[in-house]
Amino acid sequence: MVATDLKALVLYGPNLNLTGFREPDLYGKKPLEDIDAELREEAEKLGIELRILQSNHEGVLIDTIQENRKWANAIIINPGALTHYSIALRDALSSVRLPVFEVHLSNIYAREEFRHHSVISPISVGCIVGCGGYGFILALQAVRNLIAEVV
Ligand code: DQA
Repeated sequence: MVATDLKALVLYGPNLNLTGFREPDLYGKKPLEDIDAELREEAEKLGIELRILQSNHEGVLIDTIQENRKWANAIIINPGALTHYSIALRDALSSVRLPVFEVHLSNIYAREEFRHHSVISPISVGCIVGCGGYGFILALQAVRNLIAEVV
């Protein structure tokens, strides 16, 4: 695969649109638009084409995963609270057979017990937690560096 061949679908789940405003001690002060801008900049450097979507609706996330199954080479997702219980989202991700990278702004393992379990992690190639918005940059670098090995 050549350097401009990769396409990544980036998905943000419920309440991620409030990043920067909601619980800044946990999720950081940077708005999602700024995280997006940095991600697009990094994607340009890495030669990765991006499609980015934030939705508060499980079904919209699932539709988007299905619709992009032939376009994307990888999926980077912060499923928000759906992480902890959405079998439907997990099934959608495993159905399309694309490498998944799970990202969380906060360190879910250092928080309430109900956040310690992710139904998405077992079907993910890699998981990045607790690095704030920078976690998405790390995930993008992982896509660039690992994808040839996992696709
Ligand atoms: C989150 C962690 C989830 O437990 C929580 O429900 C979120 C955000 C994170 O990025 O740290 O909405 O995914």
